[in-house]
Amino acid sequence: MSAHPRTVRLGNGVEMPMVGYGVWQVLPESRTTARVLDAITAGYRLVDTAAAYGNERGVGDAVREVAREDVFVTSKLWNTQHGRDSTLRAFDATMAALRLEVLDLYLVHWPVPGRDLYVETWRAFEELLADGRVRAIGVSNFHAEHLDRLAAETATVPMVNQVELHPYLQQAGLLADLDRRGIVAQAWSPLGQGALLADPVVADVARQVGASPAQVVLRWNLDRGVAVLPRSSNPTRIAENLDLDGVELAAHHVAALDALERDERTGPHPDTFTGE
Ligand code: A2P
Repeated sequence: MSAHPRTVRLGNGVEMPMVGYGVWQVLPESRTTARVLDAITAGYRLVDTAAAYGNERGVGDAVREVAREDVFVTSKLWNTQHGRDSTLRAFDATMAALRLEVLDLYLVHWPVPGRDLYVETWRAFEELLADGRVRAIGVSNFHAEHLDRLAAETATVPMVNQVELHPYLQQAGLLADLDRRGIVAQAWSPLGQGALLADPVVADVARQVGASPAQVVLRWNLDRGVAVLPRSSNPTRIAENLDLDGVELAAHHVAALDALERDERTGPHPDTFTGE
């Protein structure tokens, strides 16, 4: 058994779980609550939602069933809410839906460079952090040039950058850049929205190490120091995706998975996505 680190320390000292349960497309909200409770029962300690997912209330219903310190809750500001005042209003709406006192992590969901408001938005995030309304702040889908702007024009380095990351889209250059800046990388769609699970190379490695394809891909992410947010609506698979200590990848397994790189996104490109 090779245990993986359970948490990672963010730039401001806050500990964030390495494996979280993502609830994108987990709807309706009543089902979100049941699924999040399944995940917490299985041992998940991080739940990742967003204003855009339409299920913050369902997440809040689940989180309020357990001890607050047992679950790290992430939410995200949607693209149409960039700008100082609308960010602060959107944060209030998120907290009203979640019905929590303090959020653990708030992310700028996409940079939307065409609107050029992400720097002003980030300054509002700094206010929320200074006011103690959120324990950590970060970004999502940001590339080096967007992070350069934040570094040049604001005082706070994002603590997390949540991006699409999996063997078909490895983003090695971005990961090295995040490491240099002290930003923790967190993968959305770490299974390539499930596409990796049908890959014969992944299946072969899974057979060799005696794990499922999903476990192999998740462990590959963790072994690169990347936090993961696997998404599943199935209680058995939710539990399976957290059970990663026994998944031991040797160097030749990692090399086989590394060789799957295709620079292939399942989601939109951050430079152009507006979400409108
Ligand atoms: P399901 O909800 O039926 O389990 P990603 O996290 O990369 O976006 O991938 C999510 C997709 O992967 C979903 O379609 C989900 O389907 C599927 N999935 C998640 N975990 C597993 C697993 N352990 N085994 C098989 N499929 C999985």
